[in-house]
Parts: sequence; C-alpha cells; structure tokens
Amino acid sequence: MEILIRDTPEASAQVAADVVSKIIRERANLVLGLATGGTPLRMYQELIRMHQAGKLSFQNCTTFNLDEYVGLPPEDERSYNHYMRSNLFDRVDLDPAQTHLPDGDAPDLREACRDYEQKIKDAGGIDLQVLGIGANGHIGFNEPTGSLASRTWVKILSEQTIRDNSVYFDNPEEVPRHVVTMGISTIMEARHCLLLASGAKKANAVRRMIEGAVSASCPASILQMHPRVTVVLDEEAAYLLAVKEHYKWIERNKLDWQRY
Ligand code: F6R
Repeated sequence: MEILIRDTPEASAQVAADVVSKIIRERANLVLGLATGGTPLRMYQELIRMHQAGKLSFQNCTTFNLDEYVGLPPEDERSYNHYMRSNLFDRVDLDPAQTHLPDGDAPDLREACRDYEQKIKDAGGIDLQVLGIGANGHIGFNEPTGSLASRTWVKILSEQTIRDNSVYFDNPEEVPRHVVTMGISTIMEARHCLLLASGAKKANAVRRMIEGAVSASCPASILQMHPRVTVVLDEEAAYLLAVKEHYKWIERNKLDWQRY
C-alpha cells in the first residue's frame, strides 16, 4: 500500500484530486470507479475547479459508482444518483450516458446486480476505484463479516452504518436498510484503488485496514492483498497507526516514478 498522510483534510483532498486528474490525463477512455458520502466531496470540488480552469476534461471517461440505496429512485434527493449529479456529473463535461450507478430501484435487484457486473466487464474493467471507509471498516457497503469473495449484490446495512448515514436523512428510520453495492471481488479487480479517509472517527478502521490482520471483520483489510492501493489520510485519520513515521519516511524517499 502507498500511504500518504497530510496535515489537513484539505491537503489530503488535493492529493486525491491529483491522483485522479493524473490518470484522467494519462489514459484515454478511462474507467473510473466513484464513491459517495462525505469524504470525497472536497476531492470532487477540486476536480470541478480543475475542469472550470480548463485543465481537466472528463469527456473520455466512463464512471461506475460503488453503491446505491434500495428503493430510492434516481430523482430522490437522498439517492446516490442525485448526489453524484449535483456534486460532480452536472458540473463537469462527463457524458451522462457514460455514468453508471447500481439500480437500487430495479424490479429485479438480482438481475440488476448481474447487469451491473456485465456493464463493468464490457467497459473493460475499472482503472481507478475511489473508495471511502466506514467507521466499521466497510468498503462500498460490504459490511463486516460479509464474504470477501462477493460480487455486486444486495447488502443489509449494519445498525452502525445506518446511524452514521442518518445525518443525510430527516431521521434514522428513513435510512433504507438495504443497498446494492459492488462486491469485494468487484472492487479488488480494479487496477488501482484510491482510498480516502479523514477525521478521528475513521482512525480505528484505518489502523485495522493497514496494520491489522486480513479479515472479513474489517473488509477494507482485504486491500492488503491488492497490488496497487493508494491510501490518502489526514493526520486525524492516521493517528492510531503504529508506524506512521515509517510511511512518511517511505514517501519522502520515493523515486519520481514510484509516486502514484
Ligand atoms: C459510499 C461508500 C461508503 C462510504 C463510507 C464512508 O459510496 O461506498 O463505503 O465511502 O461509508 O462514508 P463517509 O465518507 O460519509 O464517511
């Protein structure tokens, strides 16, 4: 894992935007995996700023989001579809036909999951997958103890995740109990994963992901088995890491071509 630690959430969002913009510029027909939630918002703002300054175009990108709530149609303001349109898609030059989210409102959810996997395959697989991490170590909405070999599927949210996500709803009762999420295997097939975490609330999950045993109890720990992961943290999210200074040493001593 490449672990990059910055003093503030703003500085880590800047690094994350640099990783994403670099690959967009380098690769034609890029397939980008995207995340929602609070964490990537600053990075999206920075990418929009680069686009508005004429320094970044998404014209040749195809996107696949990690997850969507079951039962919320795309026009519902609390859906991830709506989130993506208002926080990125409608503000850059992405072709709407090239943006994809799991269909949480499909009449046959299992069919929708298979269809999503097929679309990712048809697009040639994901080049760069952006990830956040839950306080309980989930990635996508693959909650602790779920299969580490899963593909896009319907998951039941844990009570902790429902509580954490209730800030986006009028009350916790309104948070859907079910989601459609890329599975762990789907995520692991991305050629490069970029995981972002900020704030002390994530510090324990971050420690378990990077320095703990690989275990379904902390699904993000499976990323230790991935050949190419960049983790971007702020100091608060990194504060429980046992060998934080070692990660900083490694970063300082990288050769130019070894940097994301
Ligand atoms: C979102 C997703 C989730 C979030 C995680 C952290 O698409 O897949 O894994 O990344 O729940 O959420 P925030 O960033 O709101 O703390």
